[in-house]
Amino acid sequence: MKSLKYPSLFQPGRIGKIRIKNRIVMPPMATNYAGPSGEVTERLIKYHVERAKSEVGLIIIENVQVKYPEGKNVSCQLRLDDSKYIPGFQELAEAVHPYGTKIFMQIHHAGRQYHGIEGVEGVAPSAIPDGFLNVPVRELTAGEILDLIERFSETALRAMSAGIDGVEFHGAHGYLIGQFMSPHTNQRVDEWGGTFERRMKFPLEIIRRTRAKTGPDFPLSFRFSADEFVPGGLKLEDSRKIARMVEAAGIDVMHVSAGIYESMPIILEPMRFAEGWRVYLAEEIRKTVNIPVITVGVIRTPEVAEKILREGKADFVAVGRTLIADPHWAKKAKEGREEDIRKCISCNIGCIGGYVFNDRYMRCTVNPVVGHERFEGWAELKPAERKKNVMVAGGGPGGMEAARVASLRGHNVTLYEKEKELCGQLKIAALGPGKDKLNFIREYYASQLPKAGVRIELGKKVDESLVRDFKPDVLIIATGAEPLIPDIPGIDGGNVSPAWDVLSGKSKVPGDNVVIAGGGLVGCETALFLSREGRKITIIEMLEELAVDMEPITRFDLLTELLPKAGVRALTRRVIAQISEKGVTVLDPFQRKTLIEADSVINAMGAKSVENLEEKVKEFVPEVFVIGDGSKPRRIINATFEGASVARII
Ligand SMILES: Cc1cc2nc3c(=O)[nH]c(=O)nc-3n(C[C@H](O)[C@H](O)[C@H](O)COP(=O)(O)OP(=O)(O)OC[C@H]3O[C@@H](n4cnc5c(N)ncnc54)[C@H](O)[C@@H]3O)c2cc1C
Ligand SMILES: Cc1cc2nc3c(=O)[nH]c(=O)nc-3n(C[C@H](O)[C@H](O)[C@H](O)COP(=O)(O)O)c2cc1C
Ligand code: SF4
Repeated sequence: MKSLKYPSLFQPGRIGKIRIKNRIVMPPMATNYAGPSGEVTERLIKYHVERAKSEVGLIIIENVQVKYPEGKNVSCQLRLDDSKYIPGFQELAEAVHPYGTKIFMQIHHAGRQYHGIEGVEGVAPSAIPDGFLNVPVRELTAGEILDLIERFSETALRAMSAGIDGVEFHGAHGYLIGQFMSPHTNQRVDEWGGTFERRMKFPLEIIRRTRAKTGPDFPLSFRFSADEFVPGGLKLEDSRKIARMVEAAGIDVMHVSAGIYESMPIILEPMRFAEGWRVYLAEEIRKTVNIPVITVGVIRTPEVAEKILREGKADFVAVGRTLIADPHWAKKAKEGREEDIRKCISCNIGCIGGYVFNDRYMRCTVNPVVGHERFEGWAELKPAERKKNVMVAGGGPGGMEAARVASLRGHNVTLYEKEKELCGQLKIAALGPGKDKLNFIREYYASQLPKAGVRIELGKKVDESLVRDFKPDVLIIATGAEPLIPDIPGIDGGNVSPAWDVLSGKSKVPGDNVVIAGGGLVGCETALFLSREGRKITIIEMLEELAVDMEPITRFDLLTELLPKAGVRALTRRVIAQISEKGVTVLDPFQRKTLIEADSVINAMGAKSVENLEEKVKEFVPEVFVIGDGSKPRRIINATFEGASVARII
């Protein structure tokens, strides 16, 4: 079937000698789905097949180790540093190929961005630790450098023999190859550093050795950061030269990324970054070379992807988190079913920051199926054995997902929401600065709940008598959370407002001097929100650091960029003893008291579950479940996953 709306996106393309059926690339994304020894697993295969099934032209498998242990990146990372791993890759390639999808594999060595998980010392061109991880590193010897070049080329050869269609060298994001190329990380004075040409010797030797082994027809991709976004790092002017040199050495496609760990939010943009903001880098590289160019970074909609291709800014578009959030993105685009797309909200919570970098297998906030493709009833829903009357109390993300899935399985579902609108806390959360992508969730359920056949009752609070009248077979309690009001003298004063009410506009905040009580996610976002109005903001936090409940990449962006720029002051390790009309009295770690003057005080000291009905109804409702924040205040990912899980077992 031809796509009339997105002709450029669904136009076949070529990389080297091979044909790719369209311009859609799934870029490498570490999942922690490999086995503990680095082998391919069923979870990894089923996850990729789900994407191949749905029209992705080229999948580039996540970073694969060339040298264990010091080259390792995440805790369950693939390995192909030995022939014993070949059969696993063969099985993966054979599973993806029947769908007409081509499969490449990324070859990687962490260098100084080694996470320290194997307890050995990291290695790098120069002994300069990375400022994000701060793991000690030592300088590689010349002999070790030659050994690594051999290992990169041997790994490529093993990929070829496994039936993988091509390999990508990971020269991006400040890993080993990038470290050699960049003056920021390579301060050697031998033949491997000191001048631009000598810094390029490591990648060029890898490419030449690989070509010598694989022959001219095996496609080679080079991924690099066209701007490292750090002082003294690679800039676009350098990258144009790099692109020409690697093309001449035998590379077939340039995969243009950006950033290194020290500029982490550039690699994995948090929510505030605009769609397609870094396409200009690929556009510039494309003007420089005669081989195809892949662009990447916050491309979420087929409209934007099509425009990039139509305007000649790139030859392929890589859609990463976009395809985690919706494996069927490409198919839905082709069929003109854009409203069915589950759009990635760039939260990084379920995938990279909250899970993969945290030694857990990859999940997704908006798509609970991710990582569960191999389980019966997940990727393909199983019809219910018996149609039940299901009552869902609460229309936040948890309740909406539970209602959607239960209804699609054939149950008779009614979703009750006490407010006039669905979405729960997301209505408030989306009002924080740069957080409007949370509205993607609202838009998705607004179109999907009616399609799934869910009956929606707005403005109706579920209580015991309503449950008795309804007589459900199943009650799913998804009534969420509300602000916690701690027992502090003065908390009920007229100058104190809950952060939720400030964000929603329900409470006005008089005066210029504002104290935010509580420096977690909600407190920090409220500080940013109020700072836009030019006020003097002080955050009081009892822990040693701010925003410890946040996903680390978004937090890094907040602490290093947003809060300093907004001029927000933070006092940590301070306990609030009292609030008065003068301000807030705090105790420091030595129990000394200080008054922080304030015209207004904002309570951002946490949330608590809404008191729920479980105890009152469990005697007469056969099946009762409590999910999401209603069970314990957490994050959207917990609500959607619990909703998806209970709806599959009823
Ligand atoms: C300012 C702010 C920012 C946030 N930012 C993020 C973020 O960036 N990322 C993230 O993952 N999480 C974030 N969160 C947390 C996230 O919004 C919640 O974890 C999530 O909404 C919980 O979903 P839920 O469905 O369990 O409950 P809720 O979203 O609380 O929804 C519960 C719903 O139930 C309704 N209800 C309650 N009682 C009844 C009843 N008796 N009958 C009928 N309806 C009832 C409520 O009106 C509400 O609509 C944020 C929260 C806030 C307040
Ligand atoms: C979970 C996760 C793991 C990633 N792992 C890799 C990786 O192994 N190699 C790599 O080059 N980039 C990796 N990336 C970066 C992506 O390939 C991509 O460049 C980035 O997510 C930005 O594109 P997007 O907005 O389309 O997701 C990873 C991203 C995510 C979300
Ligand atoms: S977890 Fe968040 S950032 Fe990652 S793919 Fe899902 S929605 Fe996107």
